[in-house]
Amino acid sequence: MTGIPLANRRLRLGMVGGGDGAYIGGIHRFAARLDNNFELVAGAFDVNAERGHAFAAKNYIERNRSYDDYKAMVEGEISRADRIDVVAICTPNHTHFPIAKAFLEAGIHVICEKPMTTTAEDAIALHELAQSTGLFLGVTYTYCGYPMIHEARAMVQRGDLGGIRVVQVEYPLEWMATGIELQGNQQAAWRTDPKKNGRGGSIGDIGTHAYHLAGFVTGLKAEALASDLATFVEGRALDDNAHVMIRYEGGARGLLWSSQVAIGQSNGLRLRVFGEKGSLAWHQEHPNELHFTPLFGAPIVVKRGRDDLSANTQVRTRTPPGHPEGYIEAFANLYSAFASVIRSKACGKAVDEEVIPTSYDGLKGVAFVDAVVDSHEIYDGGWQKPRFV
Ligand code: NAI
Repeated sequence: MTGIPLANRRLRLGMVGGGDGAYIGGIHRFAARLDNNFELVAGAFDVNAERGHAFAAKNYIERNRSYDDYKAMVEGEISRADRIDVVAICTPNHTHFPIAKAFLEAGIHVICEKPMTTTAEDAIALHELAQSTGLFLGVTYTYCGYPMIHEARAMVQRGDLGGIRVVQVEYPLEWMATGIELQGNQQAAWRTDPKKNGRGGSIGDIGTHAYHLAGFVTGLKAEALASDLATFVEGRALDDNAHVMIRYEGGARGLLWSSQVAIGQSNGLRLRVFGEKGSLAWHQEHPNELHFTPLFGAPIVVKRGRDDLSANTQVRTRTPPGHPEGYIEAFANLYSAFASVIRSKACGKAVDEEVIPTSYDGLKGVAFVDAVVDSHEIYDGGWQKPRFV
């Protein structure tokens, strides 16, 4: 039905959302192209069909594969011999569930933006659907695409840090420090609407990235958490700042901060892990370096591109040391990993999805947001005022 086997051609990619003026869709398109694994051939690029068609035309998509909406796209694509193999969902959060469900039910693999859904029930349903259909559902937790994040993970696994004691992860941003959602900012408007963003504001939007990153590098699983959410911009319906204390299985302690009002922080995602034998630190704005300090030793800067790094790090590296790689390359690493899973599935090969963010990671992210908001809203107890202040 789909003609040439996947092993002998690029994957045919469709996209929902990501049209003119959208943010992440463009990054997906760069990422999909970088390693020559995908060809964008179809889409329903905009909530406004006319704008979507105009965008499709500018991007060399055939008119009969530019669809009014995702439902028409599913219908149109399943009737074609050269239908898409996979769809990238680049729309606001509340639309991920119906769109992903429709494509999975049509037998099409899915690459879905985070958070995977706005409710845990929907996340469970999507995860189960991916499992029962055997289709791939990848979630774009961008930051686990960075080579040095794979190196950090390898160092933890190798025991360089010893047992983990403390995990500090923060994702501060400044762009919503004022009420830009009321001044026509498209991205801020849906992110501050609980019906579209979900129950968590900053914690759903960027806290989920931080939570995934900390778990990815350390391998630790959360046992319990306690949170304090705040909304600093007047009139905003969701948190724009969140502090979360995490107890991990095995006794390690975590502290996670997400903020949309942190002036001076463009994209300040930062992870620090402290173990019994050493610590490591990584900052998204300087992603080619990892800082490792052994107990009683001098700090070491581990740099991307060197021959002695782990295999998972090296396979995600394209340019020699000293030639910076960054965000687009990290995103492309996710796309390449997704392509390899989809190709493997097509020829019935076993797939190692351990370092690839899948529907279960998506589900864990949504469950995290629920726990954080529940902790704040339902169990807002335990606060003690010091006797002297
Ligand atoms: P955006 O507002 O810039 O773009 C959304 C796009 O979706 C627009 O083109 C809009 O017309 C379209 N759209 C909305 N509803 C639609 C529908 N029913 N059918 C077709 N198109 C529809 O939003 P942004 O910032 O690009 O975020 C989109 C998603 O990506 C969100 O889930 C967000 O959390 C995620 N995101 C992920 C990032 C990452 O690092 N992985 C970074 C930024 C966003």
